[in-house]
Amino acid sequence: MEPTDPLQAVTHGDPYPFYARLRAGPPLAYDASLKLWVASRAALLDEVFTHPAMRVRPAAEPVPAAIAGQPAGEVFARLVRMNDGAGHQPAKRVVEQVLAGVPAQDVEAATARIAAGLLPRAGDADALNRWMFDVPVRSVASLLGFGDAALASIAASTRAFVACLSHLSTAGQLAEAHAAAMALGDAVARLAQQEGGGVAAQLRAAAGAGQWDDTRAITANLVGLLSQTYEATAGLVGNSLVALSRDPAALEQAMHAPNGWLRTVRETARFDSPVQNTRRFAAEAVRIAGVDLPAGAPVLLVLAAANRDAQANPDPDVFDPQRAAPCLYSFSRGAHACPGQELACRIAAAALQALHAGAAWPHTGALRWSYRPSGNGRLPVFQ
Ligand code: HEM
Repeated sequence: MEPTDPLQAVTHGDPYPFYARLRAGPPLAYDASLKLWVASRAALLDEVFTHPAMRVRPAAEPVPAAIAGQPAGEVFARLVRMNDGAGHQPAKRVVEQVLAGVPAQDVEAATARIAAGLLPRAGDADALNRWMFDVPVRSVASLLGFGDAALASIAASTRAFVACLSHLSTAGQLAEAHAAAMALGDAVARLAQQEGGGVAAQLRAAAGAGQWDDTRAITANLVGLLSQTYEATAGLVGNSLVALSRDPAALEQAMHAPNGWLRTVRETARFDSPVQNTRRFAAEAVRIAGVDLPAGAPVLLVLAAANRDAQANPDPDVFDPQRAAPCLYSFSRGAHACPGQELACRIAAAALQALHAGAAWPHTGALRWSYRPSGNGRLPVFQ
């Protein structure tokens, strides 16, 4: 059965016919049951992403009520991802500059080593699921400067912390998220003070030079690098496995074409995005696509639908890792565009390459999966 709304679509087996119907409908459509305006065409997403009145958080609730004033909320409140204007720009510039300076070979070497050290046995779906989550976050933790002995506990704390970002979390999960926020905050703050070249220390130094002199915000954003890696990059690895399991010729290309794994991962990000949607909120009354939106109106931007808009990518429903200059919405666009795009793609590519080289690739035709419950993340759970 087709999904009935764009939030159900996120975890549907094949949401793309539904997204095509959304794109063919009115550019900005109100979904009365979700109480959301929905945008799915590429050009409209560009308009909303660059509209000065469209903000990442509702003015009345800068931090979700469930965590406001508590440790996880204190981190959330300071993330560049969750702020606009003055609270966003200097911090974003620093984060962007530092992540852009991480050499590709360091990313690939860290990921290859960590991925090979945790390899699941071929056919062990539970171990594959754990591997898919553990490798990206441990790789970023290692690049931040953590030693190997700390990586397992940083990954576990990140897993506990990200529960605060989901409205599906229980009270027990939120309590663990607060404890994890404090543990991660302490760990990254100590790391940032150490001499020695890791990304955490580089970010602290760049912040000082870049007029972003706010220790608590720097700490929060270091935690943010781990949390923003955690689910989305696992989803990119998982969705790439799904795409390759359906397309043996693409697996051959991944193995043998120049930059084969990287191209495959980038095309997966477009074709089956791990982040299917994001939101914006009107800070004041605005007119968009001929529709008058009142102040506070929430707009759901369906990134995964825009990726498949023929105005953005020719033959959008074809999975083609050799596609020239793909146009991606998966990593957002405009002021909040993801500064971790290149890092995430290189980590996912190196992880998949290590899985293949380590003879841990799932047996052909043996992969079965469903999707983890979520309103925006598309992450396969292998069975
Ligand atoms: C496949 C993996 C990833 C995907 C699909 C992804 C996607 C996104 C998206 C969609 C946004 C913006 C949301 C919006 O505009 O509403 C974003 C922002 C962000 N991402 Fe990623 N991301 C990924 C991995 C990473 C990694 C590995 C890092 C860093 C280590 C990272 C760091 C960030 C940061 C700091 C922001 C906030 C930027 C800002 O608000 O200006 N992401 N990401």
